[in-house]
Amino acid sequence: MNNLSEQIRQLCQEKNAIIMAHYYQRPEIQDVADFVGDSLALAQVAAKTDADIIVMCGVHFMAETAKILCPDKKVLIPAPEAGCSLADSCKAEDLAAWKAAHPNHMVVSYVNTSAAVKALTDVVVTSSNALKIVNQLPDNQPILFGPDQNLGGYINKMTGRKMDLWNGGCHVHARFSEEALLALKEQYPNAPVLAHPECKANILQHADVIGSTQALLNYAISHSSSERPISNSEASHSQYIVVTESGILHEMQKACPKVEFIPVPAEVDNSKFIIQNSKLLCNECEYMRMCTLQNLRDCLLNESNKVMVDEAVAKDAIRPIQRMLEMS
Ligand code: 13P
Ligand code: SF4
Repeated sequence: MNNLSEQIRQLCQEKNAIIMAHYYQRPEIQDVADFVGDSLALAQVAAKTDADIIVMCGVHFMAETAKILCPDKKVLIPAPEAGCSLADSCKAEDLAAWKAAHPNHMVVSYVNTSAAVKALTDVVVTSSNALKIVNQLPDNQPILFGPDQNLGGYINKMTGRKMDLWNGGCHVHARFSEEALLALKEQYPNAPVLAHPECKANILQHADVIGSTQALLNYAISHSSSERPISNSEASHSQYIVVTESGILHEMQKACPKVEFIPVPAEVDNSKFIIQNSKLLCNECEYMRMCTLQNLRDCLLNESNKVMVDEAVAKDAIRPIQRMLEMS
């Protein structure tokens, strides 16, 4: 551990603080955190922690969700300017108008939304539990789903429902190159493709496994030839092609050191992509990378960048989040 990491751990102890980090955080942030997880796990851990301070190393909606679930705790975010293009693609006033035009519909929102959007929502979902939750809703219940049209399209395909979809998306997942993915599949014919459901349908059609960051990690851990005894009936792998933000590779590589994880590069203005062993041009979420050891240490030391949510908004936003936690 370097000096900053040691100071951070010391401050956590002195202040009874817990550091939570998403899998897309910088490797050194994941390594210093008390808990690393996907959006669902971050919400579940926030709901249960007895720490006095929660430091959320993630993007703003993740810190907001923690604050809504723990209104009496100090929730800090080292990089308060870390937004999310997907959350930004749906403003509360636009959702309100969509809802008003469809009075019989139920609103199901992805967790990548502002507190104000959650306050207008009937049930929140994450990529971990979206299929499970939508499957629990009555068959004849019309649904408005937002803001991620790729995740919504994937749920419609898997459940046979016809949810109306908001046309939002994540700029990082929208950029993956199908051409590069196909070239990698040819180069690594035995490597299963692990993809996040925020990817477009033309990418998801080539995936062997589609799931949240945690689900993709779990799959790699339980199907890697060098990591566990394999029964004859089960497939085992020593390589995976990964189509999501490349921060997840840190935890994958830590959990499965002998396995090769190959990130798929972004399509940048349709220009050339680089394939050279595993040195690829990868996708990184600039918002997720805003948290650094330096701003994390400063934030903890000064207890700065407190996340605040308007009380009335929080009162309405907590219901669909709790409903999600109950239905997960
Ligand atoms: P997960 O819930 O799968 O970790 O995804 C969060 C996210 O922001 C994906 O872009
Ligand atoms: Fe938002 Fe996309 Fe970044 Fe995830 S990867 S936090 S959806 S901008």
